[in-house]
Amino acid sequence: MSESLLRDRVVFVTGAGSGIGRAAAQLFAEEGAAIFAIDRDEQSLDQVVGHIVSAGGRAGGQACDVARLNDVADAVNAAVSKFGRIDGAFNNAGIAPPAVDTSLVDPLLWQKAFDINVAGIWHCLRAELTVMEPGGSIVNTASVAGMAGLPGSALYSATKHAVVGLTRSVAAEYGPRGIRVNAIAPGLTRTAMVAALIENGDMDPEALVAHSPLRRMAEPREIGEAALWLLSNRSSFVTGHVLAVDGGELAV
Ligand SMILES: NC(=O)c1ccc[n+]([C@@H]2O[C@H](COP(=O)([O-])OP(=O)(O)OC[C@H]3O[C@@H](n4cnc5c(N)ncnc54)[C@H](O)[C@@H]3O)[C@@H](O)[C@H]2O)c1
Repeated sequence: MSESLLRDRVVFVTGAGSGIGRAAAQLFAEEGAAIFAIDRDEQSLDQVVGHIVSAGGRAGGQACDVARLNDVADAVNAAVSKFGRIDGAFNNAGIAPPAVDTSLVDPLLWQKAFDINVAGIWHCLRAELTVMEPGGSIVNTASVAGMAGLPGSALYSATKHAVVGLTRSVAAEYGPRGIRVNAIAPGLTRTAMVAALIENGDMDPEALVAHSPLRRMAEPREIGEAALWLLSNRSSFVTGHVLAVDGGELAV
């Protein structure tokens, strides 16, 4: 029987209340990790923590907006107080602004998206790198929109390209200190975020997957599997990498 991939590891997960973060937190717990979950939505956070604990796993959490630097530092400290250390982090919380012509993007929304999608990841990295020991592994959630341009999505795409830049730079800086930093770039994934974009008429999922080799959306757990591998020692020589988990979307 194969050994659990995250046995005895402590993993900090942001955006754990829904979608990719939730599926990933549950998967990491199944693979032996203690989870410290973060979300700004307290109710969904309680649900995921309760689900992991009732399935026999170890989990704690704290409601926190990743756009707030001090709150993120408090959450990382709370994780260390509860579990003694952080070995892994999945910096995943993010928002997807509605598609709109670039000339019409609301400046306040521009700032908000950068505050959450970019500064939010930096706030997490800042606090995590302060406490993480050599052997640690960090995974940031970018997007296929962080590797290619998308008409109508300049704001989202710019934030996700920034996540890629952060990931590569911090990987270069912290590799010599024994900490690996990678990113995943999900393609279209069946989550509440995508459901909202479809409902508002901002996205036509069938058109989007029509030219993608696997011709379907991902399930959130399929994205979690890639993050799991990057957090585990199975990827011990991988750092500064952006792993597309996109059904082949970027290949065509
Ligand atoms: N779903 C997709 O198709 C897709 C594709 C590529 C990348 N992504 C990225 O994956 C990540 C997760 O997205 P998802 O689809 O699971 O979305 P989701 O909306 O289902 O889940 C996101 C979670 O993050 C939380 N969150 C949002 N802003 C936060 C903040 N400021 N502080 C703390 N928590 C916050 C939300 O409350 C929610 O629980 C995002 O970074 C998103 O950009 C998603």
